[in-house]
Amino acid sequence: MPPIAPRSSQLSTIPAGAGKGDATPNRRCVLCGGAALAMVLVSPAARAEDEDPARAKRPQAGDLLAFFEGDRAGKIIKPDDLKLGGPPVLAWPMDPSSKALRDGSRFNQVLLIRLDPNALEANEKPHAAEGIVGFSAICTHAQCTVAGWVQDKQVFQCPCHQSRYDPKQDARVVFGPAPRALPALPLKLDGGNLLVAGPFIGRIGMARPGMG
Ligand code: FES
Repeated sequence: MPPIAPRSSQLSTIPAGAGKGDATPNRRCVLCGGAALAMVLVSPAARAEDEDPARAKRPQAGDLLAFFEGDRAGKIIKPDDLKLGGPPVLAWPMDPSSKALRDGSRFNQVLLIRLDPNALEANEKPHAAEGIVGFSAICTHAQCTVAGWVQDKQVFQCPCHQSRYDPKQDARVVFGPAPRALPALPLKLDGGNLLVAGPFIGRIGMARPGMG
């Protein structure tokens, strides 16, 4: 079964026009959707969460960020690793002392992207680091990993039902069934390192009854 996340640390780029307005998802996204559902149900990360709660701890202020997958999986992400204007990079938080990845829960997956600081919404600038912004990678619709990127629109796209999120508008939903924005992860630069500046702003994943 193909993985939901791309095999490289940069997300899959979706051709212009794909997804938006389609009555049915394209073949790639059908595969991604099935895999994503399977990952939600039986992911190794979920099993690891049971075995090692420390690895499932949510990102903490001062955490480093590391590549999720690919040739540099587990290596620390430097600001220069992020190309201006995308594509985004999928990351794990990393404990700065032990260098252990917080990979025990897929709810810790983070989308990182570098944008023109002047293009960011005013309310987004306080948690950006010189144009680099971070968001939860878990779709707020049905919790697939938001593994697509539409380069010409500069938006994230979920492979399951094509919800799109605009990182220049604090990951607001601009298309599709997702009910709310991706929670932001505040970032900062310190000594040339990209660090987490605070916990996720908002609840990760889909809404629960009575919780909005
Ligand atoms: S799970 Fe992302 S759009 Fe449905």
